[in-house]
Amino acid sequence: MKAISIKETGRLNGTITIQGSKNTVLPIMAATVLGSGISVIENCPVIEDVYAMCELLQCLQIHTTLEGHTLTIDTTQAAYAPLPYEMTSRLRSSILLLGPMLARWKQAEIGMPGGCAIGLRPIDIHLEGLMKMNVDFRMRNQMLYCNTYHLQGCEYHLRFPSVGATENLILAATGATGRTILRGIAKEPEIIELCQYLQRMGVTMEGIGTDVLTIKGTSQFVACDYNNVYDRIVAGTYLLMAAAIPCDIKMVGIDDIRYMANVIRVASQLGAQVIRMDSYLEVQSNGWINPGTFQTGIYPEFPTDLQPVLVATLLRGQGISYVEETVFEKRFSIVSELRKLGAEIEIQDQTLKISGGHCLQGHTVKATDLRQGAALVLAGLMSKGYTTVTDISYIERGYEDIVEDLRQLGARIQYI
Ligand code: EPZ
Repeated sequence: MKAISIKETGRLNGTITIQGSKNTVLPIMAATVLGSGISVIENCPVIEDVYAMCELLQCLQIHTTLEGHTLTIDTTQAAYAPLPYEMTSRLRSSILLLGPMLARWKQAEIGMPGGCAIGLRPIDIHLEGLMKMNVDFRMRNQMLYCNTYHLQGCEYHLRFPSVGATENLILAATGATGRTILRGIAKEPEIIELCQYLQRMGVTMEGIGTDVLTIKGTSQFVACDYNNVYDRIVAGTYLLMAAAIPCDIKMVGIDDIRYMANVIRVASQLGAQVIRMDSYLEVQSNGWINPGTFQTGIYPEFPTDLQPVLVATLLRGQGISYVEETVFEKRFSIVSELRKLGAEIEIQDQTLKISGGHCLQGHTVKATDLRQGAALVLAGLMSKGYTTVTDISYIERGYEDIVEDLRQLGARIQYI
């Protein structure tokens, strides 16, 4: 199992290009199942989750080729097939194939999803919405057996604005008879991108970007190309890292700054200077972090995915900070590993109390999920001596090459 070795790094300088968005391209890949044709997706991140999604599409006789950052998906020979648990359990987004399979084939045999161990991550909201669309299902041995004689448009209010459930129900509704009105849906940028892509495929929708969406089902879908947006969580990871390490860095490829407003606000509060230029974001910092009280929330609040990175950044805070996690019930795997580096962090129910300003000492630490792994890399940059991060396959699920990115900025980091 590969690992990463990191030496304390006193300064970061240079330019990095931000990769395409993982959480945008995965639902778009699922949406291609609806149509019959060839879709070319540009700026596709070269990451494990994309490979895993391609293998699932290939189970459905959908041919995919990834050349550089261009993903070509050919659904002209698509055919129904079960999706085995050993493949669906490799990522959370496998569950997003359920909606399109029901929309196209009115049935689905699909293994339960996997994904980062950041909580229980049930799919009850997905299933409750599908039941309202006249879908019957039963579960046995981690397999979900779904079918419907008539996928019927419905009105459904999500009890929580789940990103995945929103995406799945939108995808299913595209093939349902009549109108579906979804209330209380998520409003992340990736939801808006998915809706606009589906509109281009021929789906009629009203309310995009709001928490009430009306979808008119259709049976005519047109395969479309897509130019993927930048990954706002990867960009946010590097932005917070930059706040904690004296730096002057440029991040290229950030086309719509609005997606990051919540993270830029926090980075500025921490003490970084964030300068918005036409084609890049410049970040300058002296590594001096203002402590404070922070809270994650549903978009457009500060994203839960950057909570572990924020916690690591606050270890440089000149005082006590608090971070409240409001989206996942158990997203604190970063704490035990940071303590190995000498961090003083207390878990108080859903809030972390971070005592900043202590010297950190390099150690061997273990990645247990995607964003926690990235946060450990940051912690290694701030720790005396050498830090080894093991189990980095978690990081590779969502970051194309965090080692090369940081090396370009002058970090003392390498694979071992
Ligand atoms: C998406 O996961 C993202 N993944 C996650 O990013 C992100 O952390 C999360 O949204 C929240 O923003 C992708 O887009 C591939 P949710 P998802 O359904 O859809 C509860 C990363 O690092 N819930 O919005 O699985 C759930 O337990 C990943 O890229 C139910 O109770 O998240 C959680 O507490 C990690 N029942 C909350 O909702 C359901 O049926 C939010 O989950 C569904 C969700």
